[in-house]
Amino acid sequence: MNNLEQNRRLIEVAFPLKQASLDSVHEKNVRHGHISTLHIWPARRPLAACRAALIATLLPDPGNKEERDRILERLGGRVVEVTKKKKLPSGKVEDIKVEETVGGILHWGRESSPDLEWFRQKIREAYGGRPPRVLDPFAGGGAIPLEAMRLGCEVTAIDINPVAWFILKCTLEYPQRLADQHRPLPQFAVESPEFMEQFFKGTGKLTKKQLERNLSAVQQRLFPPPDVDLAWHVRAWGWWVLQQAKKDLERFYPVIDGKPTVAYLWARTVKCKNCRATIPLLKTKWLCKKDNKRVLLTVAPNGDRTGVVFGIQADVPQVGGNAAQRREHDRQLGAGTVRGKGANLVAICPCCSQPSMKADDLRAEGIAGRLAAVVTAVVVDGQDGREYRLSTEREIGIAVEAASRVQEVFAGLPFGLPDEPIVEDAKRNTWCVQYGVDRWFKLFTARQLVALATFARHSRSAREEIEKAGYPVQWGEGIQAYLAAGLDRLIDRCSTVCRPDPTPTQSGVINTFSRFALPLVWDYIEGAPLQEGSGAYLHSLEWVTKVAEHLGGLCPAGRNEVVRASSLLPPSHLSDVVVTDPPYYDAIGYSVLMDFFYVWLRRTLYGLSPEIDLAFREPLGPKWDHEANDGELIDDASRFGGDKDKSRSAYEHGMFRAFQASHRALKPDGRLVVVFANKQPEAWESLVSAIIRAGFVVDASWPIQTEMGNRTRALASAALASSVWLVCKKRSELARPGWDTTVLAEMRERIQTRLREFWDAGIRGPDFVWAASGPALEVYSRHPVVKKADAPGELMTVAEFLRHVRRIVVDFVVGQVLSHNGTGESASGLDDVTTYYILHRYDFGVQEAPIGACILYAISCGLSDRDLSDRYDLLVRTGQAEEEDEELAEEEDEVESATSGARVKLKAWHQRFRKSLGLEAEGRSTPLIDQIHKLMQLWRVGDVVRVDDYLDSRALRRNQLFARVLQALIELAREQRQSEECSVLESLSNHVAARGVAVENGARRKAQRELKVTETIRID
Ligand SMILES: C[S@@+](CC[C@H](N)C(=O)[O-])C[C@H]1O[C@@H](n2cnc3c(N)ncnc32)[C@H](O)[C@@H]1O
Repeated sequence: MNNLEQNRRLIEVAFPLKQASLDSVHEKNVRHGHISTLHIWPARRPLAACRAALIATLLPDPGNKEERDRILERLGGRVVEVTKKKKLPSGKVEDIKVEETVGGILHWGRESSPDLEWFRQKIREAYGGRPPRVLDPFAGGGAIPLEAMRLGCEVTAIDINPVAWFILKCTLEYPQRLADQHRPLPQFAVESPEFMEQFFKGTGKLTKKQLERNLSAVQQRLFPPPDVDLAWHVRAWGWWVLQQAKKDLERFYPVIDGKPTVAYLWARTVKCKNCRATIPLLKTKWLCKKDNKRVLLTVAPNGDRTGVVFGIQADVPQVGGNAAQRREHDRQLGAGTVRGKGANLVAICPCCSQPSMKADDLRAEGIAGRLAAVVTAVVVDGQDGREYRLSTEREIGIAVEAASRVQEVFAGLPFGLPDEPIVEDAKRNTWCVQYGVDRWFKLFTARQLVALATFARHSRSAREEIEKAGYPVQWGEGIQAYLAAGLDRLIDRCSTVCRPDPTPTQSGVINTFSRFALPLVWDYIEGAPLQEGSGAYLHSLEWVTKVAEHLGGLCPAGRNEVVRASSLLPPSHLSDVVVTDPPYYDAIGYSVLMDFFYVWLRRTLYGLSPEIDLAFREPLGPKWDHEANDGELIDDASRFGGDKDKSRSAYEHGMFRAFQASHRALKPDGRLVVVFANKQPEAWESLVSAIIRAGFVVDASWPIQTEMGNRTRALASAALASSVWLVCKKRSELARPGWDTTVLAEMRERIQTRLREFWDAGIRGPDFVWAASGPALEVYSRHPVVKKADAPGELMTVAEFLRHVRRIVVDFVVGQVLSHNGTGESASGLDDVTTYYILHRYDFGVQEAPIGACILYAISCGLSDRDLSDRYDLLVRTGQAEEEDEELAEEEDEVESATSGARVKLKAWHQRFRKSLGLEAEGRSTPLIDQIHKLMQLWRVGDVVRVDDYLDSRALRRNQLFARVLQALIELAREQRQSEECSVLESLSNHVAARGVAVENGARRKAQRELKVTETIRID
């Protein structure tokens, strides 16, 4: 074919890493039209990252720097620094410097720039004028296939999960089939002034007069139904569904005193073990806590102390002097009946004041079906915005009536009430099961069930009406699919996992999957779906139609294919590239969690087409089929009778088979790009081994950040959440086994140039280690296996090889630090602990750092985080990420792994109190950093004699490395504004320099004087 066969791909040489990272992070704030708003799917990759990776994989490297830089700039734009205003929690506004991209096609909104067309053409040219074929065997929420489609490729998107498959159809298939079609609006829509007003407003800028004229023409039927795209048809039929649903549901949402209901606030209840009173389980009593609106729910024992009476206190005054005192006062005032977390959780009875119900009691009551619920307050739309009132007798009666109607409403739907079980996985993502919420219908109030079933029923009848109105079958299928997606969006906001949102953006409802777990929420919110505002049915549907509009504008060039299958079997045709983001060990239980939508989709969609019926035939989404040894590839021991080893091995072997299938699916000169979103080094290494075993050579790796902390230091250095994109090609069938000595020597030689290039490109921190791993692995993975020269029959593993690589990488970084970012000779010879210290200090200073990055550094230095904390007393754990929401963190505590979100900090030199500091212990040599800290402590107390003795006994005055490290620490302390540390280090360094090899008494006196001076120096 073309130059692709000989040439390297752009991604194998260079990548707009910073730009892709910045634009990926920015994308998190994007809403309208983004596929993340079409349907929930866990772990969707940012489009910017997918677009950048696809383009750089599909295009050849031009072979010269000028041309390469031009392409990279066209792709990623330039990075500029701008000043933005940021409101601090204290209310103060601060100027902060942030980096942004200018130009390029990665930033959301720039995907329609003319440069994208340029890339499309270049890609076609590279493939001899045809659209390349791209395969994603783990396509999930569709970010990779969508971007491939945008670039004009022919896409095959595979996923085993029917919910993902359905999302992929909405993303790739319906837009492709129906995008350029326009059909007349249905007659009922044209006849409705209300709908047509929306239509005119949404399709053009009209003056008030023009709008009135158009509406009057509509009423007089002077208007022929306009031809509109699929998105407007979805809006029209959604509007129809709402009108039908209103007839059935309005009485369940009564308007009292002329104020429409926005939401009902509920609390679960339990009987007190001590006094038998009914306790409402409340995390907080604050209904609203804003500067200008402070409303509290009051909870007092009723007359006979068998339960409580609620009240509402509006205009709660602010009390306390400073901000901290006010916060503390508010905290105490709003404290609910549920305190603590995890095993320490306890409910305090408002009647007997006893902390009577512990976590186990609550669980037991839940399992026995004795947890009930009560409406605590009702949120209504008043004249001055949201108001809070107590629930009326009528409303209480309605809730009871809803319960009696549930079975009847579901009788009209396939499969009836969603009583399929909620599966509990080994990671306990579905924590609610522990409390007896073990069937899907139990996650909803009776009124929610009635409302959602009613919407599902009318969405189904819309299909019949569409056909009756004479629209083609495929058109009707597309509309019903988007109606189902809109309904799923509503369902996400209509469960008892939803919490009240203190910010006014989302109707006050935080959706079920604001995080990927299903806990039991004590006090939840139930919105009113018939309302017009946010969080209601039409609002949910509007998000979906915006995506349909965006996708409709893509005009795909190639043929796309959405396949519901296991990726352990290769697809029937060959692909030019495979780009995929596989499931990662036990990170997310896709199927277990997404059954939430599965059970509703089968009720809304069943009967739509034979393939839909086949997809939703089973009660739940696929888990693991032991007989076929196939299924969803996640590491979940609960599928293997709790056997962790079996589960891990099934996952790892499954991934190996999936990579083998990708190998078979790929053309000889094709490329495989695999995204690794989790950076635990051991897990990463085992998957890389599987890729190599499957027949690939790994030759590049790029860590793209997708989220960043908002503290400056974190922005500059730490990859809080990034994914490593690994680029691989097929290994020659003639490849022979290699020898470790040759492989290591070759790697050492090759990697130096790449390290310099990465460093000069501004890649820093853990990203530098990840970026270097790919090119280094090329030398290793060129061979099917690498044998050990000095151990016959033994092989060098990926882990062993990467240990060598990482050491070279960290020595390089430390070399840069020691030479103050100069030409930087490598820092080999420095001990492991000091190497770690400098790396950590350079990246994170004295601030908290994410544990993941520190584990990577520790491993790179031949250490573990535990060595550093316990053995060397250098590192301390500081707990969860600072920014984390306190309440969310509390419950996540139950389901998250021990290390997620954990942070660590270096111990300051003056906090290292161990007596053995700086002395030889247990036959191990003393790290240089310990010796320096020892000297600093002696210097600080003015013990110059002991300083000199220590220097002499260890021959430190002649130690060049000691001098370089000392100087580097001075620079770091100065840059990190550690004034005392800096002055102690400087005077120590002066002392060493002043006296050369020997120390005289005079010098000691001088040093004593100098010491006094340094104590007064401060750096601002
Ligand atoms: C990390 S997600 C992909 C996310 C996707 N890149 C996105 O941006 O939305 C991994 C996907 O692999 C799917 N999966 C798990 N096992 C599978 C298998 N054996 N065959 C096909 N897909 C599988 C899961 O359903 C999940 O959607």
